[in-house]
Amino acid sequence: MCGIIGYVGKMTNIQRVLIDGLKTLEYRGYDSAGLAYVDDGVKIIKCQGKISSLEEKIDESKQGKLGIAHTRWATHGGASDINSHPHRVGSVTLVHNGIIENYIDLKRLLEKEDYVFKTDTDTEVAVALLDYLKRKGLWNNLEVIREFAGYIKGSYAMGIIFDDELDTIYATRKDSPLIVGVGQAANLIASDVSAVLKFTKEYCLLDNYDVVKMTENEVEFYDKDLQNICKEKLEVNWNIEQAEKNGYEHFMLKEIHEEANILRDTINEYVDSLNSFVEKMPDLKKYNKIHIVACGSAMHAGIIGKYLFENQVGIETTVEVASEYRYKKVFYDDKTLVIVISQSGETADTIASLRKAKENNIDTLAIVNVVSSTIAREADQVLYIRAGMEIAVATTKAYVLQVAMLMLINLKMMIERDKITSRELNELLAILKKSPEYVEKVLKEEKKYFDIAEKIYRDNDIFFIGRGIDYAICMEGSLKIKEVSYIHSEAYQAGELKHGTISLIEDHTTVIAVMTDEELSLKTISNIKEVKARGADVILLTKKELDDNYEFVSDKIVLPKVNSYIIPFLAIIPLQLIAYQVARLRGCDIDKPRNLAKSVTVE
Ligand code: AGP
Repeated sequence: MCGIIGYVGKMTNIQRVLIDGLKTLEYRGYDSAGLAYVDDGVKIIKCQGKISSLEEKIDESKQGKLGIAHTRWATHGGASDINSHPHRVGSVTLVHNGIIENYIDLKRLLEKEDYVFKTDTDTEVAVALLDYLKRKGLWNNLEVIREFAGYIKGSYAMGIIFDDELDTIYATRKDSPLIVGVGQAANLIASDVSAVLKFTKEYCLLDNYDVVKMTENEVEFYDKDLQNICKEKLEVNWNIEQAEKNGYEHFMLKEIHEEANILRDTINEYVDSLNSFVEKMPDLKKYNKIHIVACGSAMHAGIIGKYLFENQVGIETTVEVASEYRYKKVFYDDKTLVIVISQSGETADTIASLRKAKENNIDTLAIVNVVSSTIAREADQVLYIRAGMEIAVATTKAYVLQVAMLMLINLKMMIERDKITSRELNELLAILKKSPEYVEKVLKEEKKYFDIAEKIYRDNDIFFIGRGIDYAICMEGSLKIKEVSYIHSEAYQAGELKHGTISLIEDHTTVIAVMTDEELSLKTISNIKEVKARGADVILLTKKELDDNYEFVSDKIVLPKVNSYIIPFLAIIPLQLIAYQVARLRGCDIDKPRNLAKSVTVE
């Protein structure tokens, strides 16, 4: 999604500072970029394309104390120079992330006031509205922003420069993310903390409708009634190194290789002892139904949670895509728990689903990576995974921890419902604490997975088949291939093939079969033979306990012998590495795949 950075502080080479800030937000996905800085008035440089195109237009030596910048992911109006931000109308300059849903009505109102629009964007309407309200001459700039909020339906995070206060940046938000970095040399606004790390580790969060008035030496916060308020200063627990690649070719590969360490951090935080585990996990005794709601990979993690909760706890669990859940008829009762899963904590559909549950007075629990994100703040309870900053658009390490967190929740519910003996419990806790070693073992086989990638990277189609929890793993493996390598891929329940899909299998069609569930393995073997008989080249991902010579498969990945409880997050790692290497061999933009964004903060 769009990225915003704003700087006001000591004299500096302002254009370079803004460009570098935008670069830390590139992972959010964008198709144009621009900046505005104060130098005898407001100057704007912007263009379609990558930040490198913008970089060619700047003057690195230009000194300045104030500027705002933006990476745009086109929503209203295609990617073009004129549609890129910042937008300027009259005496106001603006960068905006979000969607102004009633921009057409506002455009008509403003056209009647002789405003002429040059772009198809909702943002140009927003900045014209600010200028229109300013021209009324009734309000100061803070009050203009308050009046503005009353006109708007939709979402926004905005950085604003008014010509009559060129030493000040104003900012406000509603439903789109924006943080304030408070530093010694400068104060900043940004879409997320990664953009302020160079200047400060201290930041403040904004609530909906809060307004910030920020100069070189002062940051003032106001609530929606323009009452001056104090904001808690938070400390970023990430460092610049986490934002760098540490020698890896891509963030995606780096983040896959972080999985053992971050799993250790997360497990140790929650499982350092049985008593502390029970205390740290939420009390889930009263629920007899769980709705898991998420998008994309987070939803795939949720499906694994469903299998665990239903098979091991015996609690009815549904998994829904948030974009459907938010609009559908949902049956709640006071024993329903809604669990939302989100790496970014800013996914619009997941936020809307969370709010729907809360509007129905349903208890909510969030599994989130980004501390103090919207979902983390609005859910009744939040369980943080400790994945650290995940920069690659295609999630890998956060997905692994989402699955691990669902295993911990599952364990807590088993304890609460006496579904596990203390011996079994201690064994599982020990296995979880040991699981990072097994992750390291799987990661060490990277070359084997890369050799498999070498055989399939020219394919046009790659199918995944599995049964039960293995199907959920297939869904995530398939999404990884699609996301980063752009190869068409589908995941199918292995038993479903004969109901239509098997017609697609031809000579040398690649089928990746995931078979880790011992109870279903013989069935899966039959399905593998079905596709083999029609010419498929089958890659089997299984585990030591199920290993056999399986002469009918082309390649075999065998996970180490381990308690089956942790297999779900082990099994995905080879598939993540295969997807990575396939994309690399195809020369794809692995960390920033086309058309994708790291956090989908709009519908
Ligand atoms: C995962 O690789 C994708 N980038 C995407 O499906 C992602 O999982 C989804 O957009 C949900 O994002 P969230 O976890 O930040 O809510």
